[in-house]
Amino acid sequence: MSKNISNLSGRIGLKKNLFEKISERSLNSKDSSGIKEIANEYHMGVSTIHGAESFYEFLRPSHRAKKAFVCNGSACMCSGTQEPLKKKLKEKLGDDKVGEMFCLGHCYENKAFHYDGENYAGNDIDKIDDIIKGEKITQEKFFSKSFASTSFLMDDKLLNLDQFKDVLNKFINTDKQEIIKSLLDSNLTGRGGAGFPAGMKWDFCRKAESEKKYVICNADEGDSGAFSDRYLLEDQPLKVLFGMIICGYVIGSDEGVLYIRGEYPKSIEAINGCINSLKKEGLLGKNILGKNFSFDLNICIGQGAYICGEETALIASIEGRRAEVDVRPPFPVTEGLYKKPTVVNNVETLAAATGILINGADKFSAIGNKKSAGTKLVCFDSFFNNPGVYEVEMGTPMKKVLNDIGGGFKEPIKALQIGGPLGGVIPISEVEKLNLDFQEFTAAGFMLGHASIVSIPKDFPMVEYIHHLFEFTAEESCGKCFPGRLGSYRGKEMFDQAKNKTAKIPLKLLNELLVTMKKGCLCALCGAIPTPIMNILKYFGDEMKDDMVKDN
Ligand SMILES: Cc1cc2nc3c(=O)[nH]c(=O)nc-3n(C[C@H](O)[C@H](O)[C@H](O)COP(=O)(O)O)c2cc1C
Ligand code: SF4
Repeated sequence: MSKNISNLSGRIGLKKNLFEKISERSLNSKDSSGIKEIANEYHMGVSTIHGAESFYEFLRPSHRAKKAFVCNGSACMCSGTQEPLKKKLKEKLGDDKVGEMFCLGHCYENKAFHYDGENYAGNDIDKIDDIIKGEKITQEKFFSKSFASTSFLMDDKLLNLDQFKDVLNKFINTDKQEIIKSLLDSNLTGRGGAGFPAGMKWDFCRKAESEKKYVICNADEGDSGAFSDRYLLEDQPLKVLFGMIICGYVIGSDEGVLYIRGEYPKSIEAINGCINSLKKEGLLGKNILGKNFSFDLNICIGQGAYICGEETALIASIEGRRAEVDVRPPFPVTEGLYKKPTVVNNVETLAAATGILINGADKFSAIGNKKSAGTKLVCFDSFFNNPGVYEVEMGTPMKKVLNDIGGGFKEPIKALQIGGPLGGVIPISEVEKLNLDFQEFTAAGFMLGHASIVSIPKDFPMVEYIHHLFEFTAEESCGKCFPGRLGSYRGKEMFDQAKNKTAKIPLKLLNELLVTMKKGCLCALCGAIPTPIMNILKYFGDEMKDDMVKDN
C-alpha cells in the first residue's frame, strides 16, 4: 500500500486497534453482524474487513464451533501421542468438537491440547473430567537451566520491579550512542531467523527521520519444537519488556507492541500482568522516572496464522490487513508499522540486548565468534533424557549439546529437525560433526534458526514426515506468491497419494517443484521448505525408494 494511502487510512492506531476489533467481533458473534459497523467506524469497505477476518484460523466459524484442539506440531506428531489423545477428547466432547492447532509449545512432554482458552499437556489428559468441569489443575512446568559461563537470558538480575527501576534509571540516563555501541560491540545478531545485527537495526531506525516510530516484539513463535520465547515471556518477562523500552528510548519511539500468538495464553497473561505492574510504578507511560521520555506498550493477540511471524505479514496483521507478506525493500526500519520507522525484534533478541547491557558487551562477544556470538536458548523435545530449555554458549560442539546437556535419547533416533519446520533435517551422524553456530549449520546445508530440536524416531516413515511438511506449508502459506500458493498444494498432493498408496512420487517432478519453490517464492515459508525435504531425499532416499518413480 502506498505511503499516502496508508497515511489517510482510518485503520491507524494501536489503541482501538482494528485487528483487535475484528478479532473480538468474530470471536463473540455467531454470524456476520457487526462487520458493517466496523467498516463504517474505520472508513473501510465491508469486503476489506471480511478479507482480513477470513484470513485467520481462529476466526473461522468451523474453528469456533469446536471445543478442544489437539496439537499437530512436528514434535507431538513424532511422539505418536496425538491419535489416542484425540480419540479420548472426542469420546468426552463429541466427534465434531475436536480440531487441531499447530504447535502449542509443549514439545518437552507432548500429548498437548487446548481447551477453553488454556493449554494442557503430558498427564493433564488424565484429569480431563476436572478440566471440563472448569476446575484449575496443577500443571508441570518445563525444566530450564543455563550452561553458560555468564548467563544473559536466565539469570536473576531482572526478576523484580526494584531491580527493573535501578537498571532503567541507569540506562535512560546513558547516552543513546553508547547503548548502540554496546550492542554493536556485543555482535548480537537477531534470534528470529534472519540474523541481522541488532545494534545496526536500532541504529538505522534511530537515524530515520519521523515524528512517530514503533518498537515491535515478535512473539509469534510458531516453530514446532521451540518454546524458548515462551520461556522468556513467562519466566523472564521483565527482560523482554526492558529490551523494548530501552529500544524505544534509543530510536526515539513512544509506543511499542508485543504480537503474541494466541496459542500461548499463559504468555499473554504474564506479559499483561507485567505491563500493568510497570504502569502502576510509573516505569511505563508518560515521563518515565521524571525524564523527558514517554513510552507505552500494547499487546496484539495472534489468531492462528504461522505466517504472522514473518515481519511484513506481522505488520499487516497489526494494521488489520490480510496478513500477506510484503516485498522488501522498504524494510520496516524505514517504513514499518503504519509506514513509520519500526524496529521488529524477536523476543530472545530483546532479552539478550537487556542481558548485554546488564552484564557487558565484552562478555557476550567473548563467546563463540563474530557472526555467532554469545549464548542461545536451545529446546529439547520429549525424546531427550533431559527435555527442556537450556542456555548454551555459541560454538559448543553439538555432540556435547545433545549428549551432555540433553542427556542423549530415550529411544533410537535417526534424524533431528533443527530450527522449526523450515529448518534442516539432519541425520544424527552429521549433526555430531557440527558446533552450535549459525554459519556452520548453513554451510552444511541445514539451518540453526531458533535452535529448537525435534527428534525423528528410527521407525518414523520419512514419507510421512515430508507429507507433514508439505501439509503444514499448504495450510499456512499466505497465498501471496504463486510458487508458494500452488507449489505447497502440489507437493502435498504428491505425498497424499504416496501415503495412501494410490500413486508413486514422480522424483523428477518433485525435484523440479522443490527448485522452483526455492528460487521463486517471495518469502522463506514456502521458499525454505525445500531445504528439509531435500535433506531427507539426500540422506534417507533409500528408505523411500519403493514410493518413488525416477523418470516421470
Ligand atoms: C515464515 C517466517 C516465519 C517467521 N517467524 C518468526 C517468529 O515466529 N518469530 C520471530 O522472531 N521471527 C520470525 N521470522 C523472522 C522475522 O521475519 C524477522 O526477521 C524477525 O522477527 C526479526 O527479529 P530479529 O532481528 O530480532 O531476529 C519469520 C520469518 C519467516 C519468513
Ligand atoms: S512463499 Fe508462501 S507464505 Fe511466503 S509470500 Fe509466498 S505464498 Fe506467502
